Amino acid sequence: MMLSAILAGLSLTTTLAWAHTSSLLQRQSTGTISHSMNVTNCPGYTLGSLAENEYGLTAQLSLAGTPCNAFGTDIMDLTIEVTYQSQTTLHVKIYDTANQQFTIPELVIERPPTPTESFTGSSDLVFNYDPSPFAFWITRRSDPEAMPIFDTRITSLPSTPIPPFNTSDPRTAFDGFPLVFEDQYLQVASALPYGTNIYGLGEVIASSGFRRDIGTDGGVGTIQTLWARDVGDPIDQNMYGSHPIYLEHRFNETTNTSSSSGVLLLSSAGSDIVLQTPDNSKVSLIEYRMIGGILDFYFFSGPTDMEVIAQYGATIGYPMWQPAWGFGFHLCRWGYVNISEDIANVAAMRAANIPLEVQWNDIDLYHAFRGFTTDPVRFPGEELQQFIEQLTTNHQHYIPIVDAGIGATLNATDVYYPFSDGVTMDTFIKNPDGSLYLGQVWPGYSAFPDWFAENTQAWWTEALTNWTELGVNFSGIWLDMNEASSFCSYSCGTGANFSALKPFSVIGAVATGYPECYNETLWGPSGNMTINGTSTNSCPSETMETLKKRGIGAGGEPSVNLTSPPYAIHNGYGAVSTNTLATNATHYGGYVELDVHNMFGMMEEMTTHLALQTIFQGKRPFLISRSTFPSSGKWTGHWLGDNYSKWQYMYLSIQGVLQFQIYQIPMVGADTCGFNDNTDEELCNRWMQLAAFTPFYRNHNTYGALPQEPYRWDSVANASRIAIAARYSMLPYWYTLFANASTNGLPPVRALFYEFPIEPELFNVDRQWLIGSDILVTPVLTPGATTVDGIFPGRGTVVWRDWWTHAVVDANPDGNTTLSAPISHINVHIRDSSILLLHQEPAYTIYETREGPYSLLVSLNKAGTALGNAYVDDGESYPPGTNRILNFSASNGELDIESTGEYPIPQKVETVTILGVQQPTGVTLNGDTIEGWTYDGANEELIISNLSIELNAAESKLCWE
Ligand code: NOJ
Repeated sequence: MMLSAILAGLSLTTTLAWAHTSSLLQRQSTGTISHSMNVTNCPGYTLGSLAENEYGLTAQLSLAGTPCNAFGTDIMDLTIEVTYQSQTTLHVKIYDTANQQFTIPELVIERPPTPTESFTGSSDLVFNYDPSPFAFWITRRSDPEAMPIFDTRITSLPSTPIPPFNTSDPRTAFDGFPLVFEDQYLQVASALPYGTNIYGLGEVIASSGFRRDIGTDGGVGTIQTLWARDVGDPIDQNMYGSHPIYLEHRFNETTNTSSSSGVLLLSSAGSDIVLQTPDNSKVSLIEYRMIGGILDFYFFSGPTDMEVIAQYGATIGYPMWQPAWGFGFHLCRWGYVNISEDIANVAAMRAANIPLEVQWNDIDLYHAFRGFTTDPVRFPGEELQQFIEQLTTNHQHYIPIVDAGIGATLNATDVYYPFSDGVTMDTFIKNPDGSLYLGQVWPGYSAFPDWFAENTQAWWTEALTNWTELGVNFSGIWLDMNEASSFCSYSCGTGANFSALKPFSVIGAVATGYPECYNETLWGPSGNMTINGTSTNSCPSETMETLKKRGIGAGGEPSVNLTSPPYAIHNGYGAVSTNTLATNATHYGGYVELDVHNMFGMMEEMTTHLALQTIFQGKRPFLISRSTFPSSGKWTGHWLGDNYSKWQYMYLSIQGVLQFQIYQIPMVGADTCGFNDNTDEELCNRWMQLAAFTPFYRNHNTYGALPQEPYRWDSVANASRIAIAARYSMLPYWYTLFANASTNGLPPVRALFYEFPIEPELFNVDRQWLIGSDILVTPVLTPGATTVDGIFPGRGTVVWRDWWTHAVVDANPDGNTTLSAPISHINVHIRDSSILLLHQEPAYTIYETREGPYSLLVSLNKAGTALGNAYVDDGESYPPGTNRILNFSASNGELDIESTGEYPIPQKVETVTILGVQQPTGVTLNGDTIEGWTYDGANEELIISNLSIELNAAESKLCWE
């Protein structure tokens, strides 16, 4: 492939059309930091020594003038490597030629292999560049004249002042957008179409909704900081996870077309990512500011949203296979203080006939808050073991918490193997002088696993294995506090007087808050609701808006300020070491916390996942974790952290679930009914229903809050039974969607516009979502409501049918439709053209449900056709064993089932329901007349029961005429 072809049609001197306005803003440093504190005079780079190869090119970049040393020391010599990774993925890596800067090791995140064929002349994306000053831009080969999908030729665009996080700290001042590559500060910016649609860049709870705020003329829309932080679900601030990936959905009004692309900056550096729209420029932009690392970009061509997400998955790794039981209902709280409470809870769920798949325990389980222990008095080993055995007999499961901090022993007579073995095996993070780093978590002074260390995997696997031998026969693991959270600043335990610090005490922490609109005087503290017209609440309905390594990074660069980097990212806690490990803490191999902080959670997830594979040979692990990073989905699912029992947070959970589909961690859900504060009956009723239609379904509550298990209120029990039955009947559909995620990276839960990409009214819909392409969920999100407004995508071209009644919705093609939504009812609709394999008899557990027969639901479109498929296997083997793929198609009064694969499905299809048919005169199955059918003309619904359709048969044919 010739460079001339790469550059075909593009001029090396191309400049963009907008005005070059000189920057106005120059902040001065007021502190003692000796950097220039702005980038106005940063000289950029000049490209030379370009060499093409079969897969792309390499070149050298040299600093083009006097170093500006804005927030660090300019690096003189850089290397750029461009690799046409595949037809759809282009890799652009700019790194320091001396290999000093931190780069994520391949053994931590496996990268795509070197391509086996050349895509330089054919790939969807094209790399273009100006040599001096160096800038690059990425175009679509199919449309080279269109605005590039990424374009760094914007050095002279006026910048908008970005407020520093802390006004007394000037370290966020800068101007302009030159390419800056320093040891402690990297900056690169790209133009975006004016006001385009950007999604991702979390983890965040964004006040703008699922679509990120890109700002309006002269405004900064978003400053997204990536720095893992233990914090109770703040809005518009950095929190547990870091995901430097965005999806751009670009809509062209003139041609009424859309095309989507994605950009990953694979870096673990603390960063601010800024979305803004500079004044008078009619262009928006994204700017990255990082306090270390290299510029490691991957560009994804889409062109659909689903394809972008899948291409990202192909790059960092597809999500893990989930065991079928993981889709059951999970129940947890902080405050099940003894085994009797667990036992009573499981019994109460059974008595109320509310399916319970998994009983969880929080840190109450621990002895003196130490991980991998059980309290001998409150959770005696034998009783716990019996309890879990009973769960197992009933096809139920048990999950305990694992905290990242490992309590330090207090004195020589104190026996605690996870700590003492960790010391012996050298598995903990160190202080810069090589001594043990001690922070502080629930057990008091605590050490932290060093996931880079050689013995950590063996030590961690042993700790988990020993725990099972103590009677804790878990089915899965919950990883918490892994940002990592530490309650003191710096290495507070090192050299400290241990007798002065007792384990954390939570006794007495009683929650006093209630959901918005809750009238405690009227309804009392037990939270019984008054609804359907008799409510006195007048709340507004909307209450809110051994590692192979390059440079070891900062650990090997004496000039780097490890503790207080010159550029201050907008970390919600201010200083980067607050409430977490000190950034000068050191890891095996010489890495420092400053460089690897954001990966702590992901590395723990990988280590735990691998441990569970050892413990449960041949079975799929199940993990839920708090702090995540690109590739976490290979190892774990995620819950959305410490939300509040507020209506607002129930709504916000939807954008969280949608975000994590982009991040390739599809098994995600919120603390149902709310974590912090007390919930009430009405909120819990709505939330138990909403969350039943999200992937990870767990009710979890904080210490000291009123109980919120679904059996606590009759209406919530009722609502839960209804929603869980629907969820369990949809299990084959969920399971198929997750198989698609694990094999192709396709997101199981979808924003409406993924499926309807040229309907701009859908671009910020985050009060509804689609499960796969066929199920639309429209929950009630406000107190006191008996109706809900929802949009039905397709602008009148799609027939949407009610999940519960099968009635066709009289949908407004131009906007919202108001739907009846009494308490305990959630609106769920089926798209036309779809065929869903369902469990006919949702039972108490996933096991029992899977044992039962199947049914098929066919929703015909106006032309009388529909399609669907299902992936079926044993639901637990790892690696997945044999499977069977079922393809369903319906047209002209005929339903065809094609079955391929080796997995034998014992269960039969006993019922087929066909929606959208005219009154038939007869029905046949494989040519034999079937008698047992009924027809409901009002719904155009044909129900054929008492069937026994063999799903292992290569073909079956059901006809109606
Ligand atoms: C913080 C977690 O986010 C929360 O879910 C848990 O209950 C507490 N830690 C106590 O372990």
